[in-house]
Amino acid sequence: MCGIVAYLGQKPAQPILVEGLKRLEYRGYDSAGLALLAESSFRIHKTAGRIAALEAILPKPDPLNPGTIGIGHTRWATHGEPNTINAHPHVDATGKITIVHNGIIENYATLKKWLMDKGCTFTSATDSEVIANLIGYFYATGAPRTGQTPPDNENKFEWAVQQALREFCGTYGLAIMCSDYPNMLIGAKKGSPLILGVGDTEYIIASDAAAIVEHTTQAIYLSDNEMVVITPTGFRTKTTDNVLVTKRLKDIEFSLEQIELAGHVHYMAKEIAEQPRALATCLGGRIDVKNARVILGGIQNQLRELTRTRRIILTACGTAWHAGLVGEFLFEQLARIPAEVEYASEFRYRNPIIQDGTIVIAISQSGETADTLAAVEQAKERGAMVLGLVNVVGSTIARKTDAGVYLRVGPEIGVASTKAFTAQVAVLTMLAIELGRRRHLSSDCAASLLSELHSLPLKIDKILEQSEHIKDIARENIGRENWLFLGRGVNYPVALEGALKLKEISYIHAEGLPAAEMKHGPIALITDQMPAVFIATKCSQYDKIIGNIEEVRARGGRTIIVATEGDHDIARYADHLITIPEATEQLQPMLTVVPLQLLAYHAAVLRGHDVDRPRNLAKSVTVE
Ligand code: F6R
Repeated sequence: MCGIVAYLGQKPAQPILVEGLKRLEYRGYDSAGLALLAESSFRIHKTAGRIAALEAILPKPDPLNPGTIGIGHTRWATHGEPNTINAHPHVDATGKITIVHNGIIENYATLKKWLMDKGCTFTSATDSEVIANLIGYFYATGAPRTGQTPPDNENKFEWAVQQALREFCGTYGLAIMCSDYPNMLIGAKKGSPLILGVGDTEYIIASDAAAIVEHTTQAIYLSDNEMVVITPTGFRTKTTDNVLVTKRLKDIEFSLEQIELAGHVHYMAKEIAEQPRALATCLGGRIDVKNARVILGGIQNQLRELTRTRRIILTACGTAWHAGLVGEFLFEQLARIPAEVEYASEFRYRNPIIQDGTIVIAISQSGETADTLAAVEQAKERGAMVLGLVNVVGSTIARKTDAGVYLRVGPEIGVASTKAFTAQVAVLTMLAIELGRRRHLSSDCAASLLSELHSLPLKIDKILEQSEHIKDIARENIGRENWLFLGRGVNYPVALEGALKLKEISYIHAEGLPAAEMKHGPIALITDQMPAVFIATKCSQYDKIIGNIEEVRARGGRTIIVATEGDHDIARYADHLITIPEATEQLQPMLTVVPLQLLAYHAAVLRGHDVDRPRNLAKSVTVE
């Protein structure tokens, strides 16, 4: 994913841009660059490779004129290979306009041909260079389609940007400078996140709040088809059609400390370890054990409709989809509401049937995942009430849904989602209990589940204490290239999640299955070379899963078993045993997932992989 940072203020921009780009490194990139605007000319530096490589080619800021306005970018190649020429910023053919871009311009080939026919030259293979050139073209010549000529006043730069934006199909988050306007920075957004941090005497545009919080916690979140024009005396927000819009300043709800490693080697390790605290924060103030009720302020007005709903559709991608599967189980078990889970990427294209009384719940850590967002839009178009379970405050999904519940786990920087999963499941559990209470669930049963929810953070702490033991298990099996993860009932989605985590960061092939499905084919794969990870905690299907373990052992398979503390009998089935504290079946996923996260983490580190920058970088696949 690409990252944008842009600065306008009184300090030298270069170190601020570099620092901001470093804060976005976790999103993955293959090249980086920045442009400063000083003395009405651009100073552009870019390179393939890491930020460290960019730093190595940067000159020391000129003490007399360091440039207090600039734009920076980390690129994740989509159009054109990752090299210095294709790295951003891009400059237009006239040399007056420079841009950094996140997103994809779908009609770039048509626009490029049109511009080339007009004599415009291109140097890169990117779609983004079209943006710089089209703005530059309008700036220099006017708008041929409308017959308009550029206004000869202070708005000419802004006008040219607006003319160009009208021509683009696709998505963009943009920061733009013009050498004739040494005190102006323009940002624009459609489909890619863009935030404006507002300090006392400085402004920072970024694609991610992580690049802003060091400077200010006050921000405005641009909506699609909006732009912001910033000068040293202030900023104005408007639509790309030039209608002024008033935006409220919002607090960025996380601190610098939260986005730093705090002594951990990787963000993923930090986020696994902070799950007790994150879960406690997610539950905080939402549970009323005495009255056996749950208070979810964000959806208070929707509860009546939710209670009466005929069907809940949960939609999400990846890990969040696994949380949705747990939610399906809980809505059915606790609230007796029919529920189903849809991959957002399938749902959005399937012409889904949304009947009266259907409620759609979109689950997303980032709140920016393109497929989930499109599923939200589909569901809304078809008249469903759509709720969001989202972590990032102010994100697009949070804004597009009718109402929702925030996860409150703080920024999740690690690419492999961990603490967001436990919180997604926690929120779904609370919701299922509350809906259950409004339907059939007894007050005693709800109160007992709620008071046990409170105890989960401490139980997770106990699981985390086994980290070294789990590392030993990973080490012993580190040469195995194929793994199976098996669970039943509410722990079946956890098996899927365990397999996903291992694949994603260790590059080991892993499959998750409902344990009983194994005998319908996959059992043929079992050998002593294929570790089978079983979630075999005390639950209603305990005896059944023991049967499945026997089947694996009968074929010489090696077993890693996640079991309940105090279950001494199970040890004889296990080549490796990991325990979790006793917990009611419905609440177990928030515990059973933790050893699987640790297993994947340790396996990846033992294999020498960069855990925070895995190959796929699946998160926030909205943007280039
Ligand atoms: C896996 C992972 C991804 C995300 C998925 C959805 O570890 O992180 O599978 O869960 O890309 O992302 P969000 O939740 O941001 O919509």
